[in-house]
Amino acid sequence: MGLRVPARPGATLLELAGQAGLGLEAGCGGKGLCGKCRVRLTGEFPPLDEAQARLLGQEARQGLRLACQTEMPRGGVVWVPQESLQKRQVILTAGTDTDLELDPAVRRLELRVPPASLREPRAAAQRLAEELRTPALDVPLEVLRALPQALGAPEGLVTATLWQGRRVLEVSAGRAPASLGLAVDLGTTTVVAYLLDLADGRPLAVEAAMNPQVMRGDDVISRISHACQDPAHLAELAGLAVACLNQLSRQACHSAGVAPRRILECVVVGNTAMHHLFLGLDPSGLAAAPYAPVLGASLDLPAARLGLELAPLANLHLPPVKAGFVGSDAVAAALAAGADQVETSTLILDLGTNGEMILATPQALLCCSTAAGPAFEGGHIKFGMRGAPGAVERLALDPDTLEPSLGVIGGGAPLGLCGSGLVSAVAELWRAGALGETGGWNPALEHPRLRQGDQGREFVLAWAAQTANGQDLALTAQDLAQVQLAKGAIQAGARIMLERLGLAAPEQVLLAGAFGNYLDPADALDIGLLPPVARQRVRGIGNAAGAGALMILASQRQRQRAQDLAQRLEYLELAALPGFLDRFLEGMAFLPAPGRRED
Ligand code: FES
Repeated sequence: MGLRVPARPGATLLELAGQAGLGLEAGCGGKGLCGKCRVRLTGEFPPLDEAQARLLGQEARQGLRLACQTEMPRGGVVWVPQESLQKRQVILTAGTDTDLELDPAVRRLELRVPPASLREPRAAAQRLAEELRTPALDVPLEVLRALPQALGAPEGLVTATLWQGRRVLEVSAGRAPASLGLAVDLGTTTVVAYLLDLADGRPLAVEAAMNPQVMRGDDVISRISHACQDPAHLAELAGLAVACLNQLSRQACHSAGVAPRRILECVVVGNTAMHHLFLGLDPSGLAAAPYAPVLGASLDLPAARLGLELAPLANLHLPPVKAGFVGSDAVAAALAAGADQVETSTLILDLGTNGEMILATPQALLCCSTAAGPAFEGGHIKFGMRGAPGAVERLALDPDTLEPSLGVIGGGAPLGLCGSGLVSAVAELWRAGALGETGGWNPALEHPRLRQGDQGREFVLAWAAQTANGQDLALTAQDLAQVQLAKGAIQAGARIMLERLGLAAPEQVLLAGAFGNYLDPADALDIGLLPPVARQRVRGIGNAAGAGALMILASQRQRQRAQDLAQRLEYLELAALPGFLDRFLEGMAFLPAPGRRED
């Protein structure tokens, strides 16, 4: 697609495209490292620096450039290839099928408050507190201002909405409409918001969107480094997250036919970086060892203080984070998966850029996070992309001819590989004997699809005539190395936790999050991405973080349980543990995981 660029010296093409409403992929947040923001120039080509030349190869001569590194001071027209346009990921909103326990922090009470009399001219706030039998009632100024009118209704019928039985959020004459709650899973890539009726626990709407912060980088490290450069950057990222939540709450309320000002409480879970960026907390502590967060405990504050457009006195609750890279999303996922009530050893994995892992047994709760890298989200993979339409999500190779059949999201022509497609491709090639044990291609393999590319040998999964962008879709030796790094990190984390409890393998593995949900357990087991369990003991549990956030919203008991769970979790800092490097290196090999049990 063509994009007319205005003459604006000092602005990059990436910024200008964003201003024109055309989101480009920006995996590294505009640092010129990921090569995802490619555009083709027309007319004159500006000189090429060394870093771009290395990333773009031969095509730079035909005008290919990185939008984040290129300016066009006199304006003009650039061509944006389809693969550079920001893709909207298929967003997983379903969680575990948990029946919500209902005991919300926000309760609506109807009561009759007697009028003041000459014999007993008691203050309105005192009369309300007495009727509520709460002597230490916290009545904010905004409620005090509304009190005379609310208590002046005929018959004295009043509806008071209380938070945790002690703070008045609203008071109105007569009967008030239902109080609503919003549970939000604020992910690095996607944001999901669930609207709930707090009176009866009815789910009213679910809305999801891409996290708009992706324009400052795909992964948390890019965003942390962007935020650390300038306080204005931190404010920008916080504002983007808040704007996204406001948009989702408006959409959810619109679908349910209610007003956002009926939302009296909002619970937000996310990884520690998202938690800090949302609150505008300095994330620099997360950028280097010992990765200490600013805040670990749960936090309650007025939602309006962050700019959330809900009820004026709505409460915002952020559950606790455990460590720099084990956030409240992991705590919420552990809650939804019942990690504190397991009867057999259970490994809960959320495989993103940072693989968050929890190992639960009836006696112990361990957690760690491991830098799996961005491969499973399409980063650092030549034709990697998010799980959006056009992404290959499944691949099968004919065992005799090695001819691939591709399963593509949306059913059209393939454009790239998402995480599950990448694992599927690697697993099929491994099963077909195309890979060597130490990684890379089997040197004995000769095949018309295995050829020399500009990054070494590569296997063509789809020829140009079959793809959506008219380019061969190939899996490179460097892509294989990225998968090895990711699986090495995940296996090392899992093994260290298992060994700490004297276990060779868990009894079951639960996969949380989108990637885990779409992953074929057989593929993951065959390439040693998961510890050795029988295939039927591996199960996807959907958006467990979102399900946990809903439980925390709906019930004070579950909120307390999440706090207790966060406290009980013992965090292991893998890099500080002896043996991590050995296990990491062992985990990189393409060997069936030791002792894998048959189905
Ligand atoms: S190279 Fe331009 S955003 Fe990464």
